[in-house]
Amino acid sequence: MPQQSVRIAPSILSADFAALGREVEAVTTAGADWIHVDVMDNHFVPNLTIGPMVVKALRSHSPRPFDVHLMVTPVDPLVPAFAEAGADVISFHPEAGPHVHRTIQLIKSLGKKAGCVLNPATPLGAIEQVLGDLDLVLVMSVNPGFGGQAFIESQLGKIAALRRAIDTLGKAIDLEVDGGVNPQMARRCIEAGADALVAGTAVFSGGPERYAANIKALRG
Ligand code: DX5
Ligand code: ZN
Repeated sequence: MPQQSVRIAPSILSADFAALGREVEAVTTAGADWIHVDVMDNHFVPNLTIGPMVVKALRSHSPRPFDVHLMVTPVDPLVPAFAEAGADVISFHPEAGPHVHRTIQLIKSLGKKAGCVLNPATPLGAIEQVLGDLDLVLVMSVNPGFGGQAFIESQLGKIAALRRAIDTLGKAIDLEVDGGVNPQMARRCIEAGADALVAGTAVFSGGPERYAANIKALRG
């Protein structure tokens, strides 16, 4: 399917963790299309963040889809808990699998959309054989683990190559980018073919009164 109009997914990693419910409500009111939840296990990545209990607690604070980015290994044991907690899209890193096709089927069997995440050094080939089974591909434009890092520009080529592969397949697969996305890089990602953008720092900086303008600035 051709590139869709861009969806903005604020990453709550950059929100005020002492007021997460209010923060999710604030970005929803400000125009967020999805709520991006970064799940880190201090094992696959060097940080420890949000579990399914927090997703469940936040679920009633927004009607928008919850876009859950799992940075955990092994993946499969945690998928059912996040599905039950209210995730709508569940994405995982192929190197954290280890059985990528099986994990995709598991996510789908729970009635959720399945995504694969490509680290900066992970080639397209890692998901080539399963691209047609996916609902979403997430290109990491930073190394996963922390917010506030600089966009790695070499990933723009990977976004463009994925756009071509998705268009060739002709399926409705979202092409999302995550990490260091500011208004300037957002424009370049959209030009390269992305149609969903994760942003933490660029959405949450300046406090709630800035969220609507921050989100608008990312739409290109
Ligand atoms: C990094 C996370 C990102 C990150 C985005 O591991 O997956 O979602 O928090 O934050 P910014 O937009 O600040 O790079
Ligand atoms: Zn993320």
